[in-house]
Amino acid sequence: MSQGSRILLGVTGSIAAYKAAVLLRLLRRSGFEVQVVMTGRACQFVTPLTFEALSGHPVMTDLFAARGAPGRDASIEHVERAHDVALAVVAPASAHFLARLAHGFADDALTTVLLATRAPIVVAPAMETGMWENRATQENVHTLRERGVAFLGPAAGDLASGREGVGRMLEPEALAASIEAHFARLRTLEGLHVLVTAGPTWEPIDPVRVLTNRSTGAMGIAIAEAAAQRGARVTLVLGPTHLNPASHPSLGVVRVERAEEMLRAAERSVEDVDILIGTAAVTDFRPAVARAQKLKRLDETATHLDLVENPDILKTLAANLRARSRPALVVGFAAETQDMIEAARRKLREKQCDMVVANLVGPSRGFGPGASEVAIVTAEEPRGEPRAFGPAPKEEIAQFVLDQVVRARKEQGTHERTGGTPPDRSPAQD
Ligand code: C5P
Repeated sequence: MSQGSRILLGVTGSIAAYKAAVLLRLLRRSGFEVQVVMTGRACQFVTPLTFEALSGHPVMTDLFAARGAPGRDASIEHVERAHDVALAVVAPASAHFLARLAHGFADDALTTVLLATRAPIVVAPAMETGMWENRATQENVHTLRERGVAFLGPAAGDLASGREGVGRMLEPEALAASIEAHFARLRTLEGLHVLVTAGPTWEPIDPVRVLTNRSTGAMGIAIAEAAAQRGARVTLVLGPTHLNPASHPSLGVVRVERAEEMLRAAERSVEDVDILIGTAAVTDFRPAVARAQKLKRLDETATHLDLVENPDILKTLAANLRARSRPALVVGFAAETQDMIEAARRKLREKQCDMVVANLVGPSRGFGPGASEVAIVTAEEPRGEPRAFGPAPKEEIAQFVLDQVVRARKEQGTHERTGGTPPDRSPAQD
């Protein structure tokens, strides 16, 4: 069976480990090939033999169990095969395991494989309420979410201790359904080229000073990473930021500083782009002249700055895309401090976008790694209630936005097949 339908199932030490056997059966029934990796503690709850029989494959429990001939380490092959999967699921995920994953440990087979894999990781936590709510666990959860790890549960209910509370693993049926949905997403952008602009731009005043804004590029990076995980070839044109996108074989990053550089870099790859997502917080104005030498306090002209307008990257590219015959989808972002839906609708028309993602921003919200809240405005429903999502971490917002993108592409396809005309995008009365 191809890598396309292979799932890694990690099982860690929790009383809920027995439910992983039911989950495994359900996944097998849905046609997945499942490679099971168990931690030492998991083996104390359920024997590897159970999972071996249900999966039809040897279960990986020990990094060093599979020694090859002298000079050849079969354990490396073993690890390579295990991490070469389309999706990695850990159910149940104990507090101890989440801590090890969050800190990048590679001290057993499961953490080693998860550190090496490029596959998206989904975890289903199971633990006592106190452990789940403990700040240490919550910080680990936060770190993992920011890294793109998806959490399924935990739910509230009866716990192994006899107490009630949050920490119960989701039931295998619910987990299997979520995993299948997650899996279905993986291919939704296959074969497409997605161009994402992200981050702020720096517009030089002199060799040491710049005009810029508070953007960190976190949203655009999350979208680019999620699009790559969904099978797209992604070009991320990224302004100056301390954040580094996760490396992925189909994610190419072009680093730029100024708006004009961002436009040139985007134009270079826009030719075969199917979907353009403009998340960049482009500095709208730049100093008319960038001084060659650092401005001195005593310089009489230092308190005066002449500005000229920067190109609107999204608008320029959207106009180009419209000129081509094949369908293309242009998604803009509208970071607003007030009247966000109205502003987003205006931008939809002015910038010839198919979709605008509106989000409220301010000094302490919207920018950086925290939670965001967004609403989707499209030409199809100019007066309808925009679909809203959040507050949620940027990784979840990214998935929501891409779900809308996939949906809009399907609708575009329908318009084409039926010969209907997509809704008018010409600048309307404002
Ligand atoms: O007009 P405003 O800056 O609010 O528009 C936001 C949208 O336009 C974002 O998608 C942003 O990436 C894009 N934009 C751009 N170039 C500019 C200004 C905005 O691509 N110069």
